[in-house]
Amino acid sequence: MDAADVTQDLTHVLFTADEVAGRIAEMAGQIDADYEGREVLLIGVLNGAVMVMSDLSRAMKSHLTMDWMAISSYGSGTKSSGVVRILKDLTTDISGKHVLIVEDIVDTGLTLSYLVQNLRSRGPETIEVAAMFRKPEAMTAPVDVKYVGFDIPNEFVVGYGLDYAGRYRNLRDVGTLAPHVYGG
Ligand code: XMP
Ligand code: MG
Repeated sequence: MDAADVTQDLTHVLFTADEVAGRIAEMAGQIDADYEGREVLLIGVLNGAVMVMSDLSRAMKSHLTMDWMAISSYGSGTKSSGVVRILKDLTTDISGKHVLIVEDIVDTGLTLSYLVQNLRSRGPETIEVAAMFRKPEAMTAPVDVKYVGFDIPNEFVVGYGLDYAGRYRNLRDVGTLAPHVYGG
């Protein structure tokens, strides 16, 4: 058994690394065009957005800066409650800036709607959201996500920053986990 090979735990690949990279390039082009030379402050939400942030920022040609927030959503395991605690706040003053929140995935939208509300109160010039994945069927809190990588079915997915129990973030492909992973 090859314990190091995490790719073996994916039962169904939804998006290959190439598909993800292709979409990232398209999103970056769109964002560059929309901001037209205005400097953007990308705010990555730790930990899941690390991969998206890394690839999206390098695919962009705009001048940009980056900052990070870590938040924890109270709730059981894979379900989000909308009650959010800030574990690590920004190091930047965002007032007057063009803020683009970079998220891995929007599920119910509860976490993101809290975040947008919180950041908006700090007086940015503009605030928008880019998320690599979105589950439209799961959304209960209406959040406007301007840049969406892919809409996906209401299933738990891992890879490209997304984890199950902290694992699988390093998978290049994105997919669903084999049942034996949960069963173990
Ligand atoms: P809400 O429901 O507030 O939740 O939009 C967003 C956060 O929940 C996590 N999440 C997932 N993580 N695979 C994951 O690895 C998934 O399919 C998934 N769905 C939600 C994630 O942390 C996201 O930021
Ligand atoms: Mg997350």
